[in-house]
Amino acid sequence: MIVPFFNYASRYEEDREKIKEIVYEVGISDNFILKERVTEFEDAIRQYTGAKHAIAVANGTSALTILLKAMGVGPGVDVLTPAFSFISTASAIGLLGGRPVFVDVDPLTGMIDPQDLEKRITPASKVIIPTHLFSVMANMEAVQEIASKHNLMVLEDSAVALGARQKGAIAGMIGDAGLYSFFPAKPLGGIGDGAVIVTDNDELARVSRMLRNHGQDGITRFYHHLVGYNNRMDETVASYLLHKLHRYDDLLHRRRQIAGLYNESFRSWAPMLQVVTASHEERVYYTYVIQTEKRDELRTFLLERGIETQIYYPVALPLQLAFAYLGHQPGDFPNAEAITGKALALPLYPEMPDDHVFQVMSAVADFCTKVNVHV
Ligand SMILES: Cc1ncc(COP(=O)(O)O)c(C=O)c1O
Repeated sequence: MIVPFFNYASRYEEDREKIKEIVYEVGISDNFILKERVTEFEDAIRQYTGAKHAIAVANGTSALTILLKAMGVGPGVDVLTPAFSFISTASAIGLLGGRPVFVDVDPLTGMIDPQDLEKRITPASKVIIPTHLFSVMANMEAVQEIASKHNLMVLEDSAVALGARQKGAIAGMIGDAGLYSFFPAKPLGGIGDGAVIVTDNDELARVSRMLRNHGQDGITRFYHHLVGYNNRMDETVASYLLHKLHRYDDLLHRRRQIAGLYNESFRSWAPMLQVVTASHEERVYYTYVIQTEKRDELRTFLLERGIETQIYYPVALPLQLAFAYLGHQPGDFPNAEAITGKALALPLYPEMPDDHVFQVMSAVADFCTKVNVHV
């Protein structure tokens, strides 16, 4: 039996008719982009997160770019960002002409390391981007403390963490601004690209709203107050997300249920397998990542049993060719680099049937038993 990693077919099965209906309704409405469905979705996100402002945009990468620009990032400005993350967390800085200042991460969680963060602050630093990756949140208490000590802004890359909390505080709402991506693989996966910016800061919201739509103020067309982008959300995307948001908490519950089973099963294989089991109830399991020195062997073993996995991410950001101009060398970010050799993502999505979950657990257990016998 194949256990797929993404399985989009099953993830959208329930909404097949609804999607057709949305496309038809929007198609005959003459209102395709940034109209009432987008506003309604923004209102729903404000309610869900408690944010004062929600600004729907084209994707998470543009949300990061818009926010960084609104925060004043450009040539001559440094932004502190984790060495282990998706490319957008750092490429958005580079696209604006700013300099990504990479920070090493915690070896177990992969989140930005507060001690290293403080050491790497430069006189040109303006913003810190802590990323919440996979299912764990960065240590926001420590990040916020460092930010206020050094007068820096905090942009939470909460692209994959809608609904996650840390000591009750909502991911995306702890720093000055945050964002949620709705790329189909994300916890609230849409029908195409999409994202929303959240903030309580009036000025960041005002500028972000203009930047997403060619610098217009949303009232008078063709008067451009800023040089902006075309980074708007489509009505079809907003309408579907609004529909799905109603059952989002149930989807998160099912993700947590599967992760709970994985946590229980895998923690007994420590130290061969490393999993983060802390703060389970507050987590949003976007994807379930374990670490093991035998990552490549485990991946092959699972594939032979029909279980698909993914490697997030194979190269630390400072060592990506895109950032070669910064001159980093292997060994500069030891924890981030070690994780790239050990991290393996296992299938986890709300529609995953129990028998697939048990198949993954028993295959991992078989692998660990085999390895233990041969040690
Ligand atoms: C942590 C993180 N930040 C930002 C993004 C970018 O979001 P998008 O794909 O919507 O541009 C992603 C997407 O995978 C992500 O994982």
